[in-house]
Amino acid sequence: MAIMLKTPQEIEKMRISGIALRRVHDTLAPHVVAGATTMDLEEIAIARIAELGGKAAFKGYHGYPFALCTSVNEEVVHGMPNKKRVLKEGDILSIDCGVIIDGYYSDAAVTYAVGKVDPKIQKLLDVTQASLEAAIEQCQVGGRLFDISATVQELCEAEGFGVVREFVGHGIGRSMHEDPQVPNFGTRGKGLRLKPGMVLAIEPMINAGAPEVRVLADGWTAVTVDGSYSAHFEHTVAVTKEGPVVLTR
Ligand code: MF3
Ligand code: CO
Repeated sequence: MAIMLKTPQEIEKMRISGIALRRVHDTLAPHVVAGATTMDLEEIAIARIAELGGKAAFKGYHGYPFALCTSVNEEVVHGMPNKKRVLKEGDILSIDCGVIIDGYYSDAAVTYAVGKVDPKIQKLLDVTQASLEAAIEQCQVGGRLFDISATVQELCEAEGFGVVREFVGHGIGRSMHEDPQVPNFGTRGKGLRLKPGMVLAIEPMINAGAPEVRVLADGWTAVTVDGSYSAHFEHTVAVTKEGPVVLTR
């Protein structure tokens, strides 16, 4: 598949989609508390997306049944909302959501601490989020795709964390997944040249321990092989002549 460069008008539409998605995340955030279930969050998201005039991008995608991916602790990505999964103090929860507004997709994820978490796990969250912010800064016209990748890898590996290889970020636009793939590992100075109009979903998935992951028998939930906790942050970012524009902020 070729890379679909977006016009400024299309980026403006993607920004509208991204702002709606941010509102969904903002609505969910205060509900990430001990005693809530991941299905409670799903129900809130469904209602909020409808209220905003959007469509849940994940629901029905390759048969995925929910609007959210809710990945707890050692779950890396694609954890499924479950009314029996009750959050407790010390857990971490990644909420990943995508919406479609007027045909344009946006995709963003946040990992929350439920109450107070182990300091090493808080560091995992902080470093993963900081690696996303640093990666966003690499979205400059004339830069290289793997500058983004290397930035995440270097920052996270410097702290001894494991960078997941099996899942990657992606181009996004009128489909959720477009070219190019955006790995969280790679060689600085390599990869395709970034051009105005590229829109990328950048999503570091970082394990407190080893990088290896496996998928559970449900066919979706990816977990760390060593049982270590995993963090995931994601933004949808446009490359423009004026620099990176985070559409999901
Ligand atoms: N943020 C994830 C991604 O970019 C969400 C896809 S989950 C799915 O791939 F359930 F929709 F597949
Ligand atoms: Co994504």
